[in-house]
Amino acid sequence: MIKIAPSILAADFTRLDEEIKSVETADYLHFDVMDGVFVPNISIGLPVLESVRDVTSMTLDVHLMIASPARYTARFVDAGADIVVFHVEAETPENTRSAIKELHGLRKKAGLSVKPGTGIEVLLPYIDDLDIILVMTVEPGFGGQVFMGEMLPKISGLRRIIDSRGLDCELEVDGGVNLETALLCINAGANVLVAGNDIFSQPDRAARIMALRG
Ligand code: DX5
Ligand code: ZN
Repeated sequence: MIKIAPSILAADFTRLDEEIKSVETADYLHFDVMDGVFVPNISIGLPVLESVRDVTSMTLDVHLMIASPARYTARFVDAGADIVVFHVEAETPENTRSAIKELHGLRKKAGLSVKPGTGIEVLLPYIDDLDIILVMTVEPGFGGQVFMGEMLPKISGLRRIIDSRGLDCELEVDGGVNLETALLCINAGANVLVAGNDIFSQPDRAARIMALRG
């Protein structure tokens, strides 16, 4: 089954509670954290995550686009994250391993993400321990960008590796997902689709979530 993860970066923050309720038929709620260092934008962080946790029982999928994320993974779990995904480019191999272990010790899911310019081979040393891999299909930092079709081979390559090793690892795509690009991602082997603007621009979010499942 294809899972949908609406990105609240595209929501109306003045009405966040209602906005979250409008997408509760989705599988995960995607929460983008940007620090102005790893990416050239600043978004939301720990206090907002705590407030979101208070108003929903959805699985919170936290995407850390921050420098040296291992320092903060446990803090995001404390604030309510169920899944913590951080960028492989942002950490040392040693800290990457210990953050994955720490998340599992806290009984939470651990994921790694790759920017468009990063090859999938950098994920291989960790892949057996990951619950989710997030392939960026835009440069991280902003919602509403155009999907990069050149990323599709990365998705199909990861799908082959995950299946051939029999791993229990989800494959998530983030950036520029709409009805048309969702199908490309599903056909390439993704099973979790993040969508921000495509969902929050719709009056009927539940219908759009259903349509995105393919
Ligand atoms: C971009 C974020 C995405 C963003 C997706 O850096 O990681 O999650 O919210 O937005 P759309 O779906 O509008 O491209
Ligand atoms: Zn994201």
